[in-house]
Amino acid sequence: MVERVSVTQKEVSLSDDEFIVSKTDLKGKLTYINRTFMRISGFPEAELLGFPHNVIRHPDMPRGVFKLMWDTLRDGNEFFGYVKNRCKDGGHYWVFANITIDYGLDNKPLGYYSVRRKPTPRALDHIIPIYREMLAIEAGSSGKNAVEASLQFFRDELARNDTDYLDMMMKIENGELG
Ligand SMILES: Cc1cc2nc3c(=O)[nH]c(=O)nc-3n(C[C@H](O)[C@H](O)[C@H](O)COP(=O)(O)O)c2cc1C
Repeated sequence: MVERVSVTQKEVSLSDDEFIVSKTDLKGKLTYINRTFMRISGFPEAELLGFPHNVIRHPDMPRGVFKLMWDTLRDGNEFFGYVKNRCKDGGHYWVFANITIDYGLDNKPLGYYSVRRKPTPRALDHIIPIYREMLAIEAGSSGKNAVEASLQFFRDELARNDTDYLDMMMKIENGELG
């Protein structure tokens, strides 16, 4: 049983040359984590391996972002996105994540593979207000509508910037937006 503590404002940062790596099965259950994952999150291997990836889910993350993530992967595409994750002690860390499909020799998907690095502070200045708005929208509606409404807000934001999701992620990360 994984102990859950309330979230705090404590932030942990990755250094510029560190990568957090994990692999999951097709349902998102962890099958591999690297040492950086354990050190930054504070969870030991025994509390991660075999558990669903949402063990590190932070309550500040909008559900719409994960829907977009799963829809993208199930469509056979790789996903890029900013994620705020929860540490075992209630702290958090931000990552810029890339998730790809892990194919077997027969070309059938076996699971997913994620590599994450430290996001630029400027990128977070863009993404935090968007996620905050999505979270407020989700809190204000119920069930499936909540996620759809928050994703619609995101799509409108993309349209306002005359871009699509992937292009916006790259522009944000490369400091080309705003
Ligand atoms: C390869 C892979 C990596 C993931 N990485 C994270 C992550 O770093 N943080 C996170 O909260 N969810 C991550 N997820 C998504 C979780 O599986 C889950 O959908 C999410 O935490 C939302 O939890 P919920 O489905 O219980 O709402 C990842 C999923 C996959 C397949």
